Amino acid sequence: MLSQLAFFVRLVAFLTLLNSFFSFADAAATPLAYKISQDVKGEGFLDAFNFESISDPTHGRVNYVNRETALRNNYTFGAGETFILRPDTVNVLKPDGPGRDSVRLISKQNYRNHVAVFDIRHMPQGCGTWPAVWEVDPTNWPNGGELDILEGANDNGPNAATLHTSPGCTMPSARGGMLGKQVEENCDANINNNVGCPVKFDSDLSYGPKFNNNGGGWYAIERSPAGIKVWFWSRNDPNTPHEICGGLQNVRPDTWGTPNAFFPDNTCSMEKHFGSHNIVINLTLCGDWAGNTFGIDGCPGNCVDLVNNSPEAFQNAYFDFASMRVYTP
Ligand SMILES: *[C@@H]1O[C@H](CO)[C@@H](O)[C@H](O)[C@H]1NC(C)=O
Ligand SMILES: *[C@@H]1O[C@H](CO)[C@@H](O)[C@H](O)[C@H]1NC(C)=O
Repeated sequence: MLSQLAFFVRLVAFLTLLNSFFSFADAAATPLAYKISQDVKGEGFLDAFNFESISDPTHGRVNYVNRETALRNNYTFGAGETFILRPDTVNVLKPDGPGRDSVRLISKQNYRNHVAVFDIRHMPQGCGTWPAVWEVDPTNWPNGGELDILEGANDNGPNAATLHTSPGCTMPSARGGMLGKQVEENCDANINNNVGCPVKFDSDLSYGPKFNNNGGGWYAIERSPAGIKVWFWSRNDPNTPHEICGGLQNVRPDTWGTPNAFFPDNTCSMEKHFGSHNIVINLTLCGDWAGNTFGIDGCPGNCVDLVNNSPEAFQNAYFDFASMRVYTP
C-alpha cells in the first residue's frame, strides 16, 4: 500500500514535471505560423495610428502637426489602396519660427511576438529628408528596445536595420543567416552616440530614389523568441514569397528565405531587452542625422536653409503605403 502510494506520488510529480517542461518548451519555441491581426489600407491608416504633435527628439527642422492640421492640409491622405504622408510643400518658413510641417504616426496597437509586412510604393526622397518606419516601447526607451526597420537620410542607401537597447545586447560579429553586413555589434543605446547595431542591406533598391524608381517593395519583420529578422523584396523581385505579394492571411516566415538582417536571441535576450512595441512612421528634416551628414552625402548648401526657403524641394518627400499587415502567432 505504502509503496503504491509512493509510486503514485512519484508518478504525479513526474507528470507535473513533464507538463511544465512542455509548457516551458511551448512558451520558448519559435512560432512557425502567424495569422492576420491587422490589415490596414488607405483610410484605415487614420484609424490604426495616432498623430504625435511632439517636438522632434532628434532636433529636426520639423513641426509635427496634429491630426486635424494634417487632414486640413492634405499632409495625410487615405483612400482605396493608398495612404500618403508628406510634409508641407507650399510654404516658405520664417528662420526663427517653427520648422516645416510634417507628420509622425504611432500605432494604437502594440505587439510582442509578431510579423509585420509593409507594402510601400514610394518613400520620402530628397536632400534633408530622414524618414523612418520603426518600432519602439515609447514608455520605456531604451529598456524596452527599439527596432528600426526602414531608415536613412539624404537619399543615401542602402537601407540599414538597427536595434537600440539597454546594455547587455550584442550581436555575434561573424554571423550567418543574413544577407546584409553588420556595421556595429553592440546594440547598447548608451554608447557610440546611439548608433546601435545596424545591419546594412545588400540591395541598393532598398532605399531612396532607387527604391522609388523601381516601384518600391515590401519590408517584413518577424519578432519571435529566437530573435528579430528583417526582409526586403523590391517590387519585381522574383523571390518575393506569394504570402507577401499575395497579401495572404496566414504566413510562415520560415519559408521566406534568408533575411537581410538577423538579430539572434542568443547574445541578446528578447525577453530582457524588448517590451511591447508600437509601430512608428515619421519623417523629419535635417536634425541629428540628415543635418549632420548633409554635406558628406553630397547635398549642396545648408540643410536648414533648404528646409526654410525651398518648399518645392520636398515634392518627392512623401510616403505612399499600399498596406500594412500585422500577424500574431
Ligand atoms: C490630397 O492628396 C491626394 C494624394 O496626393 C490627392 O489625390 C488629392 O487630390 C489631394 N486633395 C486635395 C484636396 O488637394
Ligand atoms: C523619429 O523619432 C524618434 C524619437 O522619438 C527617433 O529615434 C527617430 O530617429 C526619429 N526618426 C525620424 C526619421 O524622425
